[in-house]
Amino acid sequence: MITRLVSTSAAMTHEIGKTLAHELESGDVIVLSGDLGSGKTVFAQGVAAGLGVTERVVSPTFAIAREYAGRLPLHHLDVYRLDHVQEAIDLGLDELFDDAVTLIEWGDGIRDLLPVDRLEVELALTPDDSASEDTRHLTITPFGEEWSARAPGLAVGLRAVEGVQYGDSA
Ligand SMILES: Nc1ncnc2c1ncn2[C@@H]1O[C@H](COP(=O)(O)OP(=O)(O)OP(=O)(O)O)[C@@H](O)[C@H]1O
Ligand SMILES: [Mg+2]
Repeated sequence: MITRLVSTSAAMTHEIGKTLAHELESGDVIVLSGDLGSGKTVFAQGVAAGLGVTERVVSPTFAIAREYAGRLPLHHLDVYRLDHVQEAIDLGLDELFDDAVTLIEWGDGIRDLLPVDRLEVELALTPDDSASEDTRHLTITPFGEEWSARAPGLAVGLRAVEGVQYGDSA
């Protein structure tokens, strides 16, 4: 079941991430994809807030990976700048995934290194249209049996976020 949501502000995308965080469990891996400036880091900051992270979450573009303490440990990665898949392997991704929540910006580029069970969140900007500068289309896709089973319940929660509009679910 794919869930499509429309966010009309950065605050709303933050709130969607925060709402998702309440459902997260140790070992969960979430891929964030979408163009530069589509809101991946805003979403990640929302997830962090929902996990009770008090430290300021900044883009990990230069550090590749940052860790934060919350209800569960949070790993925040950005693999946009990786020249080689080997660098991601060297990070020891599998070990990161254990006992924590892992968010990976641009993770769609390293799917081969990711567990089958994962949630993918794609954020899309609307084509040039100044009237919808703050509009983002979110497509949330579960991969693997575990996330597929969790997706319907998740969709109910996310659709309840104030102001969120939603598209068709498939
Ligand atoms: N509905 C929205 N959801 C998220 N961000 C929005 C929205 N409307 C406007 N914005 C703005 O878009 C920008 C998103 O920036 P952000 O750093 O989160 O993008 P990103 O996808 O992480 O980019 P990068 O690929 O460079 O890491 C912010 O300046 C935010 O305020
Ligand atoms: Mg970012």
